[in-house]
Amino acid sequence: MRTICLLAQKGGTGKTTLCLHLAVLASELGRNATVIDIDPQASASAWKRRRQRDIPEVLRYEAKDLSGVLAGSEQPDKELIFLDTAPHSSHEAATAAALADLVLIVSRPAILDLEAIGESVKIVKKQRSRGAVVLNACPPPHRGGETAIVREAREALEVYGLPVSPVSVSQRAAFSHAFIDGRAVTEFDATGKAANEIRSLFDWIETQW
Ligand SMILES: Nc1ncnc2c1ncn2[C@@H]1O[C@H](COP(=O)(O)OP(=O)(O)OP(=O)(O)O)[C@@H](O)[C@H]1O
Ligand SMILES: [Mg+2]
Repeated sequence: MRTICLLAQKGGTGKTTLCLHLAVLASELGRNATVIDIDPQASASAWKRRRQRDIPEVLRYEAKDLSGVLAGSEQPDKELIFLDTAPHSSHEAATAAALADLVLIVSRPAILDLEAIGESVKIVKKQRSRGAVVLNACPPPHRGGETAIVREAREALEVYGLPVSPVSVSQRAAFSHAFIDGRAVTEFDATGKAANEIRSLFDWIETQW
């Protein structure tokens, strides 16, 4: 079993968006994927209520119960657990980060977001977790190449000393449209650019173990 924690102390960077899209893709690939929603806002759980399909399973827990829940999930059938965490929750985020095999810090590429990830990086380093940064809601690649904003964001992130995913996720309407009826982009527009980005991100995550 592998546990991936989506983390950002800043609100609205795309933790829930990436968490659910990755979990749906993992399920589509035949992996036994579970989302654990420890955010009191419970956005992942609300998405699950709008969803027609049973998989992936979305469970709601408080951070204080995570350790027991994950220990109880150490069964061969659970392959991937995606932890969706709350913003502004350093204690709960630290609990989740400590239990994760990989912490993905989600940031938008704008300077205010990049500066704000210091708190999340501190949590990851203090817990000695394996961490990486993923850039989300980026301007889409132009003529096949990353835009200057994304290149500059990568440079700005060097100061934190954590790996940055070579795959960034673009700002695309499909990501929010798909959520309206509890779907993900790989279901909403399976051959679209958004779906391909999520597949590339998942492939990269798989190289991190
Ligand atoms: N790549 C993207 N393209 C388009 N819209 C996006 C993208 N990522 C996130 N969004 C939108 O941005 C908003 C915030 O995203 P999301 O809820 O996933 O962030 P979050 O980090 O989980 O927020 P919170 O900190 O409140 O939990 C949502 O409206 C979502 O649809
Ligand atoms: Mg969220």
